[in-house]
Amino acid sequence: MNPRSVSLLLQPATRLCPHLKSLRSVTFPVFRQTLPTCSPFPRRAFSTTTVAMAAKEWKIKDLSSLDLKPGEKKEIELEGLDAKVLLLNDGTKVQAIGPRCTHYGAPLVKGVLSTNGRLTCPWHGACFNAKTGDVEDAPALDALPTFKVTERDGAFYLTGDEETIKAGRRKPPFKTAVKTGPAVEKVVVVGGGSGACGVVEGLRGGGFDGSLTMITNEGYLPIDRTKLSKSLMTDLSKLQWRDMDFYKSGKVDVVEDEVTDVDFQNKTVSTKKGERYPYTKLVLATGGTPKNLPLPGFQVLENIFLLRSVHDAKRIVDAIGEKKGKKIVVIGSSFIGLEVGGATASDNDVTVVGMEKTPLERVLGEEVGSIIQKGMEGKGLKFYMNAGVEKAEPSTTDPKKVGAVVLKDGTRLEADLVILGVGVSPATGYLQKNNIIKLADDGSVVVDDVFAVTGIKDVYAIGDIATYPYNGPGGDGRYTRIEHWNVAQNAGRAVASRIINPSRKPDFFTPVFWSALHSQLRYCGNTTHGYDEVVIQGNPSEDKWAAFYCKGETVVAVATMGMDPVMSQSAQLMRVGKMPSKTELKPGVLTNGLDVLSLGPPE
Ligand SMILES: Cc1cc2nc3c(=O)[nH]c(=O)nc-3n(C[C@H](O)[C@H](O)[C@H](O)COP(=O)(O)OP(=O)(O)OC[C@H]3O[C@@H](n4cnc5c(N)ncnc54)[C@H](O)[C@@H]3O)c2cc1C
Ligand code: FES
Repeated sequence: MNPRSVSLLLQPATRLCPHLKSLRSVTFPVFRQTLPTCSPFPRRAFSTTTVAMAAKEWKIKDLSSLDLKPGEKKEIELEGLDAKVLLLNDGTKVQAIGPRCTHYGAPLVKGVLSTNGRLTCPWHGACFNAKTGDVEDAPALDALPTFKVTERDGAFYLTGDEETIKAGRRKPPFKTAVKTGPAVEKVVVVGGGSGACGVVEGLRGGGFDGSLTMITNEGYLPIDRTKLSKSLMTDLSKLQWRDMDFYKSGKVDVVEDEVTDVDFQNKTVSTKKGERYPYTKLVLATGGTPKNLPLPGFQVLENIFLLRSVHDAKRIVDAIGEKKGKKIVVIGSSFIGLEVGGATASDNDVTVVGMEKTPLERVLGEEVGSIIQKGMEGKGLKFYMNAGVEKAEPSTTDPKKVGAVVLKDGTRLEADLVILGVGVSPATGYLQKNNIIKLADDGSVVVDDVFAVTGIKDVYAIGDIATYPYNGPGGDGRYTRIEHWNVAQNAGRAVASRIINPSRKPDFFTPVFWSALHSQLRYCGNTTHGYDEVVIQGNPSEDKWAAFYCKGETVVAVATMGMDPVMSQSAQLMRVGKMPSKTELKPGVLTNGLDVLSLGPPE
């Protein structure tokens, strides 16, 4: 982190708000320009206090019967209220539920409802329990409200209060009275990202009443990291999932500090500020560190950026400046590179340099890669593929800064700034010299199928740092590290439920990923252990296609554009082991191949 730019950005929160003096372990700095005057942290629409409103009956418009089969759903409107709700059969009864996903608001009527009441969002795979509205899988954090529906004299009524119906979401249970005493469980979570969110919300949501501490060095509360590359957003009020009041309401001690070591024998965590935190259960969720290039110029020249945090995004935004029109070279043609290229291309001259034949070739294959390249060229990106980078050269006008990127074939790409998207390493530096834990060769932490660290009692590792036995299609329990937002958070929820109930084995969740390219890409499954054929359905030229990555007859991953909810349906089919085979899906001379949506509810 560049200390100069950070000191401009950050201001100790205690100087800004007298209320902070009442917070115990909170010593976060906060972004000055986004702070409301009397709140220690920017607020989202979320509030920890709800006014109980009286529930009343609302007549449902244009409904002739409640005759929905398990797995069926329809959107309905109410008389006298400008709000929709989703009517569904949750497997045991017909009731109504909030109609939009609490992640980014996808219409759940277009999602996938299983016959036993699991409602999956069509966009990024969030799952809700249709009976209770509770979140079952990431990335949604808020739950859905549920409403009773009744029939009287041939008309249908929904019972609920106006505010809740209109909000269409509800906070998960989080408030708790924490027990005290020597026998009380002390959970320490290291990290303040997606995985940490999953553990913290899973623990309190599941009724955990022990002590809970989250230690993070990021400089703010957990954010939606996935937005950084898609829009270079730097406004914490739009990025943070929860405000400090939320964590306070659940008695979560949020500590701004960096963990420097763990004493696994005496069960304590040490930090840079010289503190020690005892634990009975420890969850490591420290994510990834973006890689730099070990090539001349890259370690020393200014205006060469990595992208992981809001601090990084802010530096990039500052370097682009208000006038824009900059020459930007993005090195790396995978998701981060393409997204950040796409986010800057309309006002700047952006070139993407990649080592493969087509962008995203390693993950999605050459055919899909070339579809995406064409689409991104339409957004104004220029590509140098099959290219190796030789060095970064200084600018002639300001030799401290980068002026060009030179490729191995001698091509010189002028650059006002360079953004690297060349992969991440597990952020486990604090464990490297530890003599109890043995890191894998890539620096990751090896865990078992409940995310418990192999050979160390009461310690879990999740998210980008964790290598876990993957039991999805094609995985066969082989050790795999998956850098997806949902994987980290779902693993966090799994660990939380295991801490609450040690005999509980976590359910399998299909890895889900998404990316904002020239159109929205959805992805589920995993190809780490290879695929040998890609079956494509649909029409790539219209950005309506689904690609099925197959190993033999097994579909190991699915990528889609413009085909919702094919990815969500496939993720659910994979979860219950009912994904069709390659032969069934393959379009023939006279057929289009089996449409996975025609299979109906997955279970
Ligand atoms: C720009 C960007 C865009 C992305 N877009 C997508 C997307 O669209 N979809 C998707 O599925 N995935 C996306 N990802 C990947 C996804 O964000 C990660 O897989 C996910 O955040 C991993 O969660 P995590 O909890 O393991 O790590 P993180 O979310 O990175 O959290 C790690 C936390 O640990 C803290 N930390 C690290 N070391 C220490 C220490 N020693 N002491 C204390 N705290 C520490 C960090 O500051 C951070 O708060 C994106 C990633 C990036 C960088
Ligand atoms: S909008 Fe539902 S998972 Fe993102």
